Amino acid sequence: MTWPPLREELRGIEPYGAPQLDVSVQLNVNENPYGPSPACAADIAAAVAAAATTLNRYPDREFTELRTALADYLGHGVTPEQVWAANGSNEVMLQLLQAFGGPGRVALSFAPTYSMYPEYARDSVTAWVVGHRETDFSLDLDHARDLVKEKQPSVVLLPSPNNPTGTALPLDAVTTLCEAAASTEQGGIVVVDEAYGEFRRAGTPSALELLPRHRNLVVSRTMSKAFALAGARVGYLAAAPEICDAIRVVRLPYHLSAVTQATALAALRHAPELLGKVDQLRAERDDTVAWLRGRGLLVADSDANFALFGTFRDRHAVWQGLLDRGVLIRETGPDGWLRVSIGTADEMQTFKEALTQVMEEAER
Ligand SMILES: Cc1ncc(COP(=O)(O)O)c(C=O)c1O
Repeated sequence: MTWPPLREELRGIEPYGAPQLDVSVQLNVNENPYGPSPACAADIAAAVAAAATTLNRYPDREFTELRTALADYLGHGVTPEQVWAANGSNEVMLQLLQAFGGPGRVALSFAPTYSMYPEYARDSVTAWVVGHRETDFSLDLDHARDLVKEKQPSVVLLPSPNNPTGTALPLDAVTTLCEAAASTEQGGIVVVDEAYGEFRRAGTPSALELLPRHRNLVVSRTMSKAFALAGARVGYLAAAPEICDAIRVVRLPYHLSAVTQATALAALRHAPELLGKVDQLRAERDDTVAWLRGRGLLVADSDANFALFGTFRDRHAVWQGLLDRGVLIRETGPDGWLRVSIGTADEMQTFKEALTQVMEEAER
């Protein structure tokens, strides 16, 4: 007998998590480097203080006010009935797999893809299938369509911009996959995970535009990245009201605390300010991509707040070299590649200086 009586397939698995190290320049989990202003923080604190006086009561289970505020923020004609929210888009995605995946069903994505998806699949006892992306990390639509036909997924997970590559999907790819998934046995759903949506380059559209055309399309977003609210844990999605309704069956009762709802609502009132740094971060990202390419490195085109670059014969040595110089980035993606989140101008300068030293040392 093995104690504790953990599910067989969970034995020996390390819990997921990027290293949380005490390093001065943290560029490893795609956070926004800018915190809320004192005015915004004071408003959040006041909203939480007000909520505190009624914490003896359960919160609004349907978080109606928050759904309305999120629908207003999204625009594109999205209504509150088309919005769902949870503790980070991680929980949104797990709920989607609990509702639409499950034993005997398949979730499909295309590698490299967000590393948490296989964990949501495992935890919801959904079979996990991955297709591939091209060498430039784009999607071969024939391959994608064929795989949907062959594997009959009930959920297709498409991060766009993709993590860890930063690649955004063109809308015709989303349309193709929505149509392919709709014609599967179960009429599968397609989740376009736009966690980094606000960082898209000019001219890159959002899948929100396609919502009126595909009832099986789900667009997932988060307040963790562009909104600079990772600590509050608020993710949400826009989809057909029937999809939002179905998720209510699997959610835990009162899953969004009154404190979370008050925080998110206050933050949304400050949306222009919280999102105010997005343009600056996009410019810093483009500058970082250009600088890395100038060093002779390969860099994936990025529509997100990070850049995937390489390739290195020993990427761990480069990662360690940067860490030794006080810069924490992420050892992730295909072999030989590394991912750096976009920080402040000062942080990126430190990163560039450290990487220059590490690469010079490696050449010697
Ligand atoms: C592609 C993608 N989706 C979802 C998430 C989850 O974000 P959160 O749970 O903070 O909303 C992340 C986090 O890094 C991500 O990279």
